[in-house]
Amino acid sequence: MSRVFNFAAGPGVLPVPVLEEAAANLVDYHGEGMSLIEMSHRGAIFSQIIRETKDLLRGLLNIPDTHDVLLLQGGGHTQFAMVPLNLLGAAAEAAYIVSGTWSKKAAAEAAKFCHVNVIGTPSRLAIPAREAVTVANDAAYLYYCMNETINGLEFNYIPDCPECVPLVSDVSSDFLSRPIDFKRHALVFAGAQKNFGPAGLTVVILRKDLLGLASETCPTMLNYQIHAEAGSMYNTPPTFAIWVANLVCKWLISEGGVEVMDRRARERSSLVYQTIDASGGFYVNNIPAQHRSRMNVVFTLAESALTDLFIKEADAQGLKNLRGHRSVGGLRASLFNAMPMAGAEKLSQFMKDFAERHG
Ligand SMILES: Cc1ncc(COP(=O)(O)O)c(C=O)c1O
Repeated sequence: MSRVFNFAAGPGVLPVPVLEEAAANLVDYHGEGMSLIEMSHRGAIFSQIIRETKDLLRGLLNIPDTHDVLLLQGGGHTQFAMVPLNLLGAAAEAAYIVSGTWSKKAAAEAAKFCHVNVIGTPSRLAIPAREAVTVANDAAYLYYCMNETINGLEFNYIPDCPECVPLVSDVSSDFLSRPIDFKRHALVFAGAQKNFGPAGLTVVILRKDLLGLASETCPTMLNYQIHAEAGSMYNTPPTFAIWVANLVCKWLISEGGVEVMDRRARERSSLVYQTIDASGGFYVNNIPAQHRSRMNVVFTLAESALTDLFIKEADAQGLKNLRGHRSVGGLRASLFNAMPMAGAEKLSQFMKDFAERHG
């Protein structure tokens, strides 16, 4: 089988060695005579995998002892509710930087539970200037989305807030592609289905002193403390997804870790952005260079009627899933950790050829 280049925004491309290892051990897990996904999650084998996965994450991201690692379910959307349910405590207000579709959605969910102080301009989605982020001392937390997958925007700075205000970030689409400063971040969460593994797993890394703030009425499954105390095994965890995430962590270590992923992400995305910028306006991306995402390159064709043809021709060449999110249209090339440089090179070459033929 020849592999295509899969530019999907998630579920997205995974490393081939990980898929091969999972396939080789799917039916008979290392001679156990049964699959891992048939085993009890409380048995010795899976217990070891979940423990090891958390340790591997700790090593990859330098997660300090002050923080807990939770392996949960429910995706980013569940976190949009869990964050306010668990962090509001007695506070009446939380601050949200609304820079794109996902932070806008998170802010709307939080507004069900508290007053939301919106920073940014929801009608014109962009990363605000650093100085524009001001947060009151009595805000329960400051929330931002580090990489806006749909809008192709990525923070190039850590938002400032008073020390007493916990900083929360949705890192779903750039998780494990850049270091995270846990001195600054009180809580980060990510759906696994981009850089970490299959859909169905959600990782939450949070400061331990934030556990226990949820009210009595918080549903059990939405309470971080319950999951922390149960070692992420309060209910049946997504065993397959955690196993594959474990293999992804080992692959990341063998490739050199998160700094190497960051460098590669810059190289891949720079190539595609250069192709856009050198196209004489044939391809358009108006995001300020410092806020362009390394993970999701979003662009349009000046002549939008050519979009379907672009996608059709790219697809025929094995460049798959380049259509932009249905809410914004246009094109999007997601360049997650497992995307080889050859994928960005082939895309760039195709873009140049297409522009030459249709420009
Ligand atoms: C940055 C970000 N946050 C949240 C979500 C929602 O995640 P889920 O579909 O896992 O609920 C996505 C999905 O793509 C995302 O990219």
